Amino acid sequence: MTVEINTNEPVEIAKGIHWIGFDDRKAGFHCNPYLLVDDGQAILFDPGSVPHFPLVLQKLVKIINLDQITHIIVTHQDPDLCGAIPRFEELIYGVGGSAQIVTHTRASVLIQHYGVRSEFYGVDQNDWKLTLRSGRELKFVFTPYMHFPGAFMTFDAVSGILFSGDVFGAFSFDWSLYANDYYLEAMKAFHENYMPTTQIVRRAMEKLEKLPIRMIAPQHGSIINRGVKDYIAALKELRCGDYMFEGEGV
Ligand SMILES: [Fe+2]
Ligand SMILES: [Fe+2]
Repeated sequence: MTVEINTNEPVEIAKGIHWIGFDDRKAGFHCNPYLLVDDGQAILFDPGSVPHFPLVLQKLVKIINLDQITHIIVTHQDPDLCGAIPRFEELIYGVGGSAQIVTHTRASVLIQHYGVRSEFYGVDQNDWKLTLRSGRELKFVFTPYMHFPGAFMTFDAVSGILFSGDVFGAFSFDWSLYANDYYLEAMKAFHENYMPTTQIVRRAMEKLEKLPIRMIAPQHGSIINRGVKDYIAALKELRCGDYMFEGEGV
């Protein structure tokens, strides 16, 4: 029996972890912000761009009050995940809250140009982890050059979810919230061009093989909730950097 998922509402993908993105059939490149709520403390992952802000906000306020957000984790500096940070900050600080932006120091150098006001929490300066008030620990996995030198992923051992940023994403015109039978190929096609070399991707996959990952929640494309090992194995063997051989130009 297939259960219909209403993507007009937040979707709880594991206890206290919500997908708060949206289904835009025209986009072809979906952005997936996520929210983790633990003992009243809320952590926002890759919140999205300026045009997406109203849609994401609308879902977020159905789950929490804005002053519950204490951390915004951003895997790198791109506008599709960081553009909305100053808008969220306006609302968080406006209701008396405050938050830290959790990222690599290499990314914080660039993220400050969005006009953010929060303090940065450098994953590389804090032993690659963030401990929540309850004692729950989020572990950061350094995945350099995928696709930014300071890129990283977040692993939550409680749920077994890996928040993977751009990695494991895909362009998908037949988008579904959870990966369908075609997703593996779509994912490979995205990485062939977007990730620089096989060696870089393989090194990251070797790190991931050591973690008890139950589900992968990427910033683009669909959530991988079965066959996680197959997706890791596929990327490990993938020929990347293909864009070097494409196109015209000098
Ligand atoms: Fe990116
Ligand atoms: Fe992205």
